Amino acid sequence: MTSTLHAPLELIDLHPAATDMRQLVIEGMSQSPKQLPAWFLYDAEGSRLFDQICEQPEYTLTSTETALLQSQAPAMAAALGAGTLVEFGAGSARKVSPLLEAMSNPAYVALDISSEHLQAACQRLHQRHPQVPMLGICCDYSQMQQLPLHPLLAQQRRLGFFPGSSLGNFEPQEARALLGQFRRLLGPGGKLLIGIDQPKAVERLEAAYNDAAGISAAFALNLLTRLNRDLGANFQVDQFRYRARWLPAASHIEMALVSNQAQVVQLCDRDWSFDGGEALITETSHKYSPESFLALASEAGWRSEERWSDGAGDLSLHLLKQAD
Ligand code: AVJ
Repeated sequence: MTSTLHAPLELIDLHPAATDMRQLVIEGMSQSPKQLPAWFLYDAEGSRLFDQICEQPEYTLTSTETALLQSQAPAMAAALGAGTLVEFGAGSARKVSPLLEAMSNPAYVALDISSEHLQAACQRLHQRHPQVPMLGICCDYSQMQQLPLHPLLAQQRRLGFFPGSSLGNFEPQEARALLGQFRRLLGPGGKLLIGIDQPKAVERLEAAYNDAAGISAAFALNLLTRLNRDLGANFQVDQFRYRARWLPAASHIEMALVSNQAQVVQLCDRDWSFDGGEALITETSHKYSPESFLALASEAGWRSEERWSDGAGDLSLHLLKQAD
């Protein structure tokens, strides 16, 4: 019998240290090629544009993963077993519902660096799943030594959830370090359910990151608007064009803003010169075959337990267990 009493929703704010954007900008602009951290793309306007990318017909990652989670949730819940789902970088937490519905007596912990997003997401999810005990923790999970010893995390197995192929935005060696960090935070017996986008026909890959409606381009160009506003830069946005290309040797999509002409830009109280045709890389999106992903995961102490894939083999949800 299901209780009609509502389970509690709690929020903990660990006040993650504000990152020094100026420092990161100076480092990234000094590299060759120039490259800035991908998370700079996500100011309010960037987050809105990213949600729109997810609805473009060429960008199938979100809809494919959502459909896979919906259709396979009972099998995933059975393989996960009992425990507390811990979502890393939950954002608006739009993917976890089918799992919460399929698991018996689940608990849910959302980790995110933005306390506003976290509150809004937890409140919305808690309304939808009033019987599920929930905890939101505002933190930088990449820098934590351990998760707080809250009862939801101390009394049950921890089951990590990292959908969306977000791992793709990290360079492989950072991705390996992050997988190792997840393993430490989830502790002995912990598991990880992670969504990974796979290599596919180059035409499809390049179209997904350069949609006909121009949303991908607007998303990247918004970075310059953000730098102008938040760091007092003076980019002329119309002097850059967007380019997305598949680099097979690196197995990643490189997204860049290419300078239309030789020009000098002021940013962080310094002058930065661009040659005509020079690129500023806004992000890379790495794609892993099941084999290459599992090789990376095993270097971080994980072993494959199960894998679910869509019919076309576009992406996989991997269930990993600790190698021990
Ligand atoms: C959020 C990293 C999964 O790489 O597909 C999509 C980001 N950028 N289109 C991806 C993104 C432009 C996305 N990830």
